[in-house]
Amino acid sequence: MSDNKFSPQETNPLPSLDLWEDDLLERYPDPEAIATAKKTEEYRNYDDPVRDTVREFYRLNHTYQTYAFVKQKQKEYLSFDKKEMPVWDAFQFLNQLVDDSDPDTDLDQFQHLLQTSEAIRRDGHPDWMVMVGLMHDMGKVLCLFGEPQWAVVGDTFPVGCAYSDKIIYPEYFVNNPDYNDPRYNTKYGVYEPNCGLRKVDMSWGHDEYVYQMMKDSLPEPGLYMLRYHSFYAWHREGAYDHLLDDHDREMLKWVKLFNPYDLYSKSPEPPDWNKLKGYYTELIDKYLPKTLKF
Ligand SMILES: [Fe+2]
Ligand SMILES: [Fe+2]
Repeated sequence: MSDNKFSPQETNPLPSLDLWEDDLLERYPDPEAIATAKKTEEYRNYDDPVRDTVREFYRLNHTYQTYAFVKQKQKEYLSFDKKEMPVWDAFQFLNQLVDDSDPDTDLDQFQHLLQTSEAIRRDGHPDWMVMVGLMHDMGKVLCLFGEPQWAVVGDTFPVGCAYSDKIIYPEYFVNNPDYNDPRYNTKYGVYEPNCGLRKVDMSWGHDEYVYQMMKDSLPEPGLYMLRYHSFYAWHREGAYDHLLDDHDREMLKWVKLFNPYDLYSKSPEPPDWNKLKGYYTELIDKYLPKTLKF
């Protein structure tokens, strides 16, 4: 489907897509888990070869996510003319993304979505936010359309203007052609001061794709959660204030509210689907159309 010409090493350096999220947990450990020494040990204990694959993943991400690349992917994917299927089939489709490195112990993509949505529900948040939890990583199907890992997951950041040093591994941006391009390498680049994030193009990945997929189905705070959940330089590090407008600043609290459910809801115990199916069938009927377009 995709016309990328990358070698296998340039496509998928991570033995598992979820290693990116494991790395996030090292950067932003669960405040509650810190109290339990064992958990923290677990996070810290993976060996260097894994760490190297994460670093290589970011090297590729920062090198190839140019302004032109993002524009090309928007054109390629945002017409949603690739596939159409009922929502339940879409979850099965997403689950074709299997983790080769550890198929026995890792939960599939759907379990992560369900653990996130269940944690949100348990805390009594509105049902549209439960929907956000359930759908937030649906955009990872981009991998199944042949996109390389670095164009699907990883921290996202604005393209078309100078990179913040608050982005993970900022040193790799020197390899990006935009780094030396005067159109794109100034503080504001192609944007106006405080133009608002909706006018800013983000690096291409599963956040933007799922946001565009859901944009007519959920309230505004939920759409921000989807669209910016991997924009750690903003919601965790406070960068890019010069591009924000008041609406973004207002929405930030929602993005922050969602983040811990994504990062810290993982548990080895899969939710009991038989008990949950009725609730989620109704919820999906309430918010989503009969079929999802990809
Ligand atoms: Fe995600
Ligand atoms: Fe997630």
